[in-house]
Amino acid sequence: MNRRDVIKLMGGSTLLGSFGLSQSSVAETVRTLRAFPSTKRLVPDSSFQEANIWGFEGKVPGPELRFKKGEWVRVEFENELPEGSSIHWHGIRNLNGMDGVAGLTQPAVEPGDRFRYVFPLPDSGTYWYHSHAKTWSQVARGLYGPLIVEDPEDPEVDHDLVLMIDDWRLADDGTLEESSFGSLHDWAHAGRLGNWLTVNGESHPNIPVKQNARVRLRLINAANARVFGIALPTEGTLIAEDGFPRTHQLVNDITLAPAQRADVIWEMDSETTTFYEVRNGEPYPAFTLTPVESSEPRVAKRPLSQKPVAPPPDRIDVEIPLHMQGGAMGNLSEAVYHGKMTPIRELAQMHKKVWAFNGQVGDHHDALATLSRNQVASIEVFNDTRWEHAMHLHGHHFWIQTEQGEFLNGQRDTYLFSRGERAKLIFVADNPGLWLFHCHMLEHHEAGMAAVIEVV
Ligand code: C2O
Ligand code: CU
Repeated sequence: MNRRDVIKLMGGSTLLGSFGLSQSSVAETVRTLRAFPSTKRLVPDSSFQEANIWGFEGKVPGPELRFKKGEWVRVEFENELPEGSSIHWHGIRNLNGMDGVAGLTQPAVEPGDRFRYVFPLPDSGTYWYHSHAKTWSQVARGLYGPLIVEDPEDPEVDHDLVLMIDDWRLADDGTLEESSFGSLHDWAHAGRLGNWLTVNGESHPNIPVKQNARVRLRLINAANARVFGIALPTEGTLIAEDGFPRTHQLVNDITLAPAQRADVIWEMDSETTTFYEVRNGEPYPAFTLTPVESSEPRVAKRPLSQKPVAPPPDRIDVEIPLHMQGGAMGNLSEAVYHGKMTPIRELAQMHKKVWAFNGQVGDHHDALATLSRNQVASIEVFNDTRWEHAMHLHGHHFWIQTEQGEFLNGQRDTYLFSRGERAKLIFVADNPGLWLFHCHMLEHHEAGMAAVIEVV
């Protein structure tokens, strides 16, 4: 299947119309993104080794892609890895054929092959791209990068800083710990948690900013499974989550589940300031902003103007119950796997599957629901496990309604469920195609926490 077929198949032109984008905004430049193995010094101390990583253009993170709202992305992906891969554009309300889910929206791009991604950007905000083939291994090896979509309405700032946070599991010599890839223990517990924090691929980077600057922090959690908490040394203004605007809120800390993003406007003074990770034991320095003198003028610190926040729909057309079970200390005794009821012991030992949705081990095959275009759907999730899960829906942003019936502010593409939590993820099914709904703790996804929602 070539690119033209894919677009035809997915009704690209129709969707284009529905986003109100015109061909005139098509940027013709095609950017190449090659994925290949490389090395990276993750521990700065020279008594440690460099780590073997896989990166886009050999880097971690991959190159920052920056576009304007309404522009088109044209990326030629070249796979120079030893195994099949793909690129998913996380959070983009994409054309289904461009969503990059290997085995669902396209076959994996085999070693030596290429695939051209061409799609419009209907929304501004902070997004990211990552491999979506054997994701639990490829993202852990470094196959991710930031995707920023600018908007003429964005607040004027002195510095627009992308901060991609990751935790690596390193061996004692500073190399990537590889023997634990695929560990069933990780898959049934919290996932692959690391022991080495990096921001933009560096340990505790020191970033120069102008004194008294207004800074936009674009925080992105690129870890496989770790939930981060970033403390702000002084209050900042949270303006967007998962790319979408929210009602501005003064905050002192940000919780970021895997794949989540937060945009914060923060005012620098003349002091060196360290931002700490505070959700995983002792506070740990994540990054430092160091003031530099500069005679250039600063932007005027005008009050931030609030972008419109879409209110939740006032009706639900389709309810989709979702009972999540499994994992260590869980209550799952058996589940349907490839059409056959299978005891948990066999699932775990023979197939490495330990999680289920509605008694079914998830894969990319059976649709959890089929929705007609523009129906309002509510995924009614019950996290009946002893673990947190970062549930992500492709191709849509949802509103979150708590068990008490309250709506959280704004819309997200990934929501962190705590143990035992019930909440509804409500969305308008306005994007046709096959959309993955899965846990972004990538080991959980691989071990059964996945389903497909079809929009026809
Ligand atoms: Cu960030 Cu299924 O993806
Ligand atoms: Cu999970």
